[in-house]
Amino acid sequence: MNSTNSVSYRWNTVDDQSELNQVALSAILDNATKSIRQRGEFHFVLSGGDTPRRIYQQLRFIHTNWSAWHIYFSDERCLLAGDQNLNSRMAGEAWLDHVPIPKNQLYEIPVELGASRAAYEYASTLRSVQAFDLTLLGLGEDGHTASLFPGHEWGSEVGSPDTLAVFTAPKAPKHRVSMSAARLSRSRQVIFLVSGESKHMVVAKWRRGNNMPAKAIMPIAGIDILLESSLLVPLSI
Ligand code: 6PG
Repeated sequence: MNSTNSVSYRWNTVDDQSELNQVALSAILDNATKSIRQRGEFHFVLSGGDTPRRIYQQLRFIHTNWSAWHIYFSDERCLLAGDQNLNSRMAGEAWLDHVPIPKNQLYEIPVELGASRAAYEYASTLRSVQAFDLTLLGLGEDGHTASLFPGHEWGSEVGSPDTLAVFTAPKAPKHRVSMSAARLSRSRQVIFLVSGESKHMVVAKWRRGNNMPAKAIMPIAGIDILLESSLLVPLSI
């Protein structure tokens, strides 16, 4: 991974959030089916944020071999167990608590240990997985993704640690743990889910090549970006 390398972007537009959910759901199912057929397992990294919540809710109802699914989190907020702002709680309530994925295949970030220790422990959990099959990511208005924020360490260089402890996040809570850009990039497919008018400016900046955390995600296979067509205006405007 190197900032001088380039990554190919596939900008896939949809009419609205409901179509975005459908397209994302079918991409997840396709990848899971293919991964399970080819390797017997599906290693899937979840994003936090609001955009994926309805997709997670719909995942409850798909037909799949749940025992082959392995679930990871791109990032987590350092909050007390059970806090409603935990990404793991959101994904649990929306989806994971309702399907029979073996509990030892749900790899939550142990944030109750504090950011430093949790980052260290999660890096050791991740050591057993070479490349993720699918990583979902969101995009913040400032270009952040996972808990990689502008002006902070993103871990994009080769040899970067797999996880980063964050102590001064610009969004509450300040303490977080995030997979690094290098680790998130080690994925056979990366899909960014981008929805809502507030993302207009950041999408234009990303397309113009402005430096931002999302730009540090550089999987070999390129990136699929699912977004509402209203966000993809001509760049001259
Ligand atoms: C988090 C996320 C974060 C999120 C973006 C977009 O823990 O908050 O991982 O990176 O994906 O902020 O969030 P929305 O989907 O809510 O716009």
